[in-house]
This record gives sequence, C-alpha cells and structure tokens, in this order.
Amino acid sequence: MSDKSPIEQLPQQNVLVKVEDGIAWVTLNRPSKRNAINPGIVYEMCDVLDAIELTEEAKCVVFSGSGDAFSAGQDLKEYFREMEKAHPAMRERLQRANSMWQWRRLMHFSKPTIAMVNGWCFGGAFQLLCACDLAVADEDASFGLSEINWGIIPAGIVTKSVAMALSQRAALYYILTGDTFDGREAAKIGLVNFAVPKDQLQAKTITLAKKLMEKNPVVLRACKSAYHYVREMSWDASAEYLGAKLDQSKLRDPERGAVKGMSQFLDEKSYRPGLGNYRRED
Ligand code: COA
Repeated sequence: MSDKSPIEQLPQQNVLVKVEDGIAWVTLNRPSKRNAINPGIVYEMCDVLDAIELTEEAKCVVFSGSGDAFSAGQDLKEYFREMEKAHPAMRERLQRANSMWQWRRLMHFSKPTIAMVNGWCFGGAFQLLCACDLAVADEDASFGLSEINWGIIPAGIVTKSVAMALSQRAALYYILTGDTFDGREAAKIGLVNFAVPKDQLQAKTITLAKKLMEKNPVVLRACKSAYHYVREMSWDASAEYLGAKLDQSKLRDPERGAVKGMSQFLDEKSYRPGLGNYRRED
C-alpha cells in the first residue's frame, strides 16, 4: 500500500491533474502535437478518472488542453497508422480503453464534468466534448469534423456523439463539409453552453463548476445518469425507470435532500425551490 494519494500516484505525463477548491483540472498534455489523443493519453486517462473518483476533495472535473489546443482528435500516427501494424489483440485493447474513458466512464461519471475548450477541437475530441455534462469554449476556438477531408467517416463514437448533441441539419452540415467553426457558432448550435473571450474562459468555467458544486452530489449524479438512459428508452420504460431512480437516489442520499427541501418549503416556509437550493448544511 502506498502512502501517496491516488492523484499523487499518477504519472502526470500525457495528462496533468491538479485539484484546487474542489475542482479537478485535467489537462491533456501533448501541446507540441496539439494534444492529439495517443495510446499514452488513453491509458493514462483511465487511471486519471479512477484517481479522481477516489479523491473526495474533487467535486467537479474540468477537461482542457495544454497550449493552444483542446485536442486535435485521435493521433493519426500513434493511434491509427502505428496500430495498423500492431497485433489485433493490442488494437482491440486500445480501442476498448479509448471507448472506456471517452464515453462509457465519462457519460456516467460520478462527479459533474465540464469541457473547457481552449483552442483546436477536432474529430475524436468531440467524443470527450460531448461526453462531458457541460461545455464552455473560447469564442475563437476552432472546431471541426475533419474526417471527410482525409477520407474516413467520423468513427469511434464521434458520429453518435454529434447526432445526440446537435440537430440533424447542423450535424450533417459539419460531418459532410468538414468546415471549421468557432466557439460562437458552437454555442449557437448547442455544442457548448457558453462561448466567451479567451481571458474569461477560466473564470466562466469556475463559476459554472461552483454552481454545480452547490448542488446535492448524489442527486446530481442520478440526474445525469437518468438523462442518458431515458434518451434510449420508450416512454413507458422511462416512466418506470425514473420512478425507480428517484427512489434509489432518495435512499442513497446521505443528506436526505428531499426531506429537507420539502420541510424547508412546506413547514418552515424558509425557502422557495423555484428560486434556489434548499439549505444543505441543516
Ligand atoms: N494526429 C497526430 N499528430 C497531430 C495531430 C493529429 N490529430 N494534429 C496535430 N498533430 C501534430 C502534427 O503532425 C505536428 O507534428 P510535428 O511537429 O511532428 O510535425 C504537430 O502536431 C503540430 O501540428 P501543426 O499541424 O503543425 O499545427 P497547426 O497549429 O499549424 O495546426 C491543426 C493545428 C489542429 C489545424 C492541425 O494540426 C490539424 O489539422 N490536425 C489534424 C486535425 C484532425 O483532422 N483531427 C482529426 C483526427 S480524428
């Protein structure tokens, strides 16, 4: 058993992680390669997500990139070309690990997640972007589904991510043309929540993270999980599932938020649920 905390045990090479004031800042760290996602990032990120889940002080996670890129997508050399020569089992292992961190783990991550898009964001990076709960972009960041420009379809889970996040018109326009677009357009089409000038990007992200950290974490997690599952379910199955999920979140909630909130509104008449949070500290 190591005396080091889970975050201290991380290699901090391809991915940097620090926790400050409740926020785990996760930075893709290959600036000279525009943070293209290579096997090093993939395997390190699986451990990073485990470490953050085990770290109580980390209440919210923010993903961004070193230098002037968020991420230029999957690494064309190390992830694609070099893996063509690898043993099929190694290739499958890598693809499995990549889907694991980019969407299976992230979409249902136990803590809220924000993508802070600080620059170039292409192809495979859309998986990370869309799997995060919320997103804030530099208004001059450059986005693109460039796959069509070099003769492939947006695979991995990129097309699915984009189909879930955007309208058909916007998704197909950018998939079929490969045109780049900026952060302002990303906000307009709903790919990110906010686009702000570069010098306000971090402050805006912190404000958003703080808003999420004020909420009941058990219920926050149940909300996002429920959202992702019901999108794929029938109406009847959704009603059944949401009823069960509601009971589960009440049972699992150590602060008994539902009881507190109701009592503060109905008995004490000390707050209005439509206007803000119940008092969690009571
Ligand atoms: N895979 C592998 N390497 C990449 C990469 C990627 N997706 N994106 C950038 N790089 C590498 C470049 O090969 C270059 O490496 P080198 O210095 O060894 O030659 C380095 O990163 C810098 O890239 P460069 O193109 O010189 O930077 P730029 O600032 O002029 O342009 C981009 C930035 C993002 C516009 C450009 O790098 C690009 O188009 N990248 C590919 C984006 C893409 O299509 N991604 C989809 C992949 S799924």
